Amino acid sequence: MSAQNTQGLEISNLMKRLGDNAVVKGISLTARRGELVCLLGPSGCGKTTTLRMIGGFLSPDSGSISLGGLDITELPPERRPTAMVFQNYALWPHMTVYKNVAFGLRLRRLPKTEINDRVDAVLKMVNLVHAKDRHPGALSGGEQQRVALARALVLEPQLLLLDEPLSNLDAKLRVEVREEIREIQQRLAITTVFVTHDQDEALSISDRIAVMSGGRIEQYSDPDSLYRRPESRFVAGFVGSMNILSGRIVAGGITLGPDGVFIPCDDAVLANYGGDGGEWEVAFRLEDVDVQSAGGLTSLPHRGSVARQVSHGHFKEVLVEVGEHTSIRAYLGPDVDLSGPVVVSVRRLLLYRDGALCYESHPASGRGQPTGGESLPGGAGLTSSSPSGSLR
Ligand SMILES: Nc1ncnc2c1ncn2[C@@H]1O[C@H](COP(=O)(O)OP(=O)(O)OP(=O)(O)O)[C@@H](O)[C@H]1O
Ligand SMILES: [Mg+2]
Repeated sequence: MSAQNTQGLEISNLMKRLGDNAVVKGISLTARRGELVCLLGPSGCGKTTTLRMIGGFLSPDSGSISLGGLDITELPPERRPTAMVFQNYALWPHMTVYKNVAFGLRLRRLPKTEINDRVDAVLKMVNLVHAKDRHPGALSGGEQQRVALARALVLEPQLLLLDEPLSNLDAKLRVEVREEIREIQQRLAITTVFVTHDQDEALSISDRIAVMSGGRIEQYSDPDSLYRRPESRFVAGFVGSMNILSGRIVAGGITLGPDGVFIPCDDAVLANYGGDGGEWEVAFRLEDVDVQSAGGLTSLPHRGSVARQVSHGHFKEVLVEVGEHTSIRAYLGPDVDLSGPVVVSVRRLLLYRDGALCYESHPASGRGQPTGGESLPGGAGLTSSSPSGSLR
């Protein structure tokens, strides 16, 4: 174990079967002290199961968990320096907010004055002083959520475990509370594992994100790397909005979809990937697509038309039909009006084969690069799971 990680969380090759299901299939992950790590993944991928093992509520079949350099794999929850916030709050309805928050400290038989001071401080921290004497039934959803958070924070855990803690809040409150959690977590430097299936939430509050699928971690990266450089086809499709189409590399760009529509891409190195003539899964972000009025250039082969647009206020998302069976999504400014023919080009793209990232382009520097030491392709076609060429 590295010196850097001895103060944090280190999970090694955790496995768990539940009934007939291999639910967690070898999870390894480290979190530095004070780091907030998200477990992000679709429903059923094993996030809660992993979190419950970290909290001691479920015993792993194999693997180990250590915190601050100490192996806690065999410790029961109450003997771990952890606190867990459950998705459904689990507040005691017959107790006031104050008593709910004080409960854990009273179990620890702390002196009354210390309990008072700590509860007051934490209620102030989560902005709930006004609701101190109310019962949970007289609180809004967001306030109840903050009580659950206060109840965990007041224990001053070494490790905070949060299972979808915002899932029952409306969109605005969700953003407010997640920023509050992040602020408190950073101020107190509490190592935190935060479970969510909401990628926006994960991207906005995490130091690092572990994207999970089928009981495994697909990628563990900081939010920017995860977004810009998804290492697998799964992550490319799961994190952020992405155009993913089957395509071939030709001089000056790509041909996409069943129509073989030519789309220019200004990347000198990309052309080397056309050598085998084989198909790739070509992925590019909506913000990496340029859509412009075709003007007098209507004879260009890659002209298309804007078939649909959805306003998001400060920008709009458009669907551009570039071929009979091929469409591309892109972002436009709120006032850009493209009613006539348009031309489309792509600034930056990623190439996947057999589910793995093989190439990312860096057109700004005029240089792309193969990923993972991969040599130029040898002609293998795409697997049967490749997209049909229409937008997902
Ligand atoms: N007691 C059990 N017996 C058998 N299978 C189980 C049991 N508990 C959970 N599972 C299965 O394990 C898988 C992972 O469950 P888990 O609760 O960890 O998923 P999750 O990633 O938290 O999903 P969600 O986002 O829906 O909360 C699911 O397919 C679930 O059906
Ligand atoms: Mg869950």
